[in-house]
Amino acid sequence: MTKKTHDLKRIRTTPLDAVIIGTGAYMPERILTNDELSTMVATSNEWIESRTGIRERRIASPEQASSDLGAEAARRALANARVQADEIDMIVVATITPDMGLPNTGCLIQQKIGAHNAFCFDIEAACSGFVYALEIASQFISNGTVKTALVLGAEKISCITDWKDRSLCVLFGDGAGAAVVQARPAGTGGVIHTIMRSDGRLGDLLMLPGGGSRHPASHDTVSHGLHYMKMDGREVFKHAVTCMTSVAKDVLTACGLKVEDLKLIIPHQANMRIVKAIGDRLGGKPEQYFVNLDKYGNTSAASVIVALDEASRKNHLKKGDLVLLVAFGGGFTWCASIVEWCHG
Ligand code: UT7
Repeated sequence: MTKKTHDLKRIRTTPLDAVIIGTGAYMPERILTNDELSTMVATSNEWIESRTGIRERRIASPEQASSDLGAEAARRALANARVQADEIDMIVVATITPDMGLPNTGCLIQQKIGAHNAFCFDIEAACSGFVYALEIASQFISNGTVKTALVLGAEKISCITDWKDRSLCVLFGDGAGAAVVQARPAGTGGVIHTIMRSDGRLGDLLMLPGGGSRHPASHDTVSHGLHYMKMDGREVFKHAVTCMTSVAKDVLTACGLKVEDLKLIIPHQANMRIVKAIGDRLGGKPEQYFVNLDKYGNTSAASVIVALDEASRKNHLKKGDLVLLVAFGGGFTWCASIVEWCHG
C-alpha cells in the first residue's frame, strides 16, 4: 500500500470515477534519424539535438494511415486492460491527420478492431487532443452514460510535413497511443480533474491551411504547399511554456496538490527545452518529468498517451500514484489533468 502524503481534493461529485485500466501504443517501424534528415535538408544532428532533444522519429509506411496506427495501439490497450472489443461503448480519437474527411477515424478504428457496440467520433485539438479526449470520455463515464471508453491519439504527421522546411520537418513524427477508460465507484481514482483552455486569437501561429472548406483541395493549394503545417516556432515555444506552466499550476491548486505530491509529470513531448523551461517554473525533480521525445519527436495528439503508456510499461507507476498530464497545441489549445493511477 502506498502511504498518502497529500490531501487530494476530489472535485467530482458524480457517483462514478473514470479510471484508466489499460494503455497501449504503436510506433511505426521505420526510424528516421537526425543524420538521415541532414541528407534531406540543410540541418545537422548537432543542431536538432541541441535545440530540441530529438534524436530520431518514426515514419509510417505509405500504406499506413492514422487509423492503422490507432487500431494497433487499441489492440494493445485492450489486451493490457483485458477488455474485449465488443465491450467498448465509445471511441474518441484525437487527431489532426484523420485518414480522410469522412468517415471519422474512430469509425475506421471501430471497424478494424471489431468494436461494434461503440459510438465513435474524432476531436481536433492538435497536440492537446489526447488530454481533451480523455476528459470528454471521463465526463461520459462519470455521468453514467458510458461504461467503457477507448480514447486514442493517432497521428501520421509525416503526411502534412513539408520535407523541405527544415524549421519544421525535424520536429515531428508518427505514432499512436490508446487508453481504455472504465467506470468505477466514486473514490477509486482515475481522472481527478482536468482544466482545458483555448485562445483562437493565436491560431495563425500554427496552422494547416489547405484542404478544408476555407481552401478546398485544388491545384493551387497543392502548388502553394497549403496542405503542410505552417508554424512560427519561436512564438509557439514561448506560449507553450507559459500556457503549460500556468494550467499545470492551476490544476494542482484546484486539487490541493503540490508538485512534490506527483509521481510523474507527462508533458506534451514537443521539445526538451520546452520541458526544461516548464520544469524551471513549476519545480519538482528532473526524474518526475517523463520524456521520450528523443526517440519519437513530437507526435502531436499521440504524444502524451504514448509517453504515459511507456511510463506504465516501464513500471514507473503504481496504484495510488498521482500523474500530471499537460499539453499544448495549435488553436491554441492547452490543458492539464490530474490522474490517480489505479492500474497494475
Ligand atoms: O506542439 C507544438 C508544436 N511546436 C513546437 O513545439 C515548436 C516550438 N518551437 C521550437 O521548438 C523552436 O522554436 C524550434 C526548434 C522550432 C526552433 O528553435 P529556435 O531556437 O527557436 O531557433 P530559431 O527559429 O530562432 O532559428 C535559429 C536559427 C535560424 O537561423 P538564423 O536566422 O539565426 O541564421 C534558423 O534558420 O536556426 C536556423 N534553423 C535551423 N538550422 C539548422 C531553423 N531550423 C533549423 C534546422 N537546422 N533544422
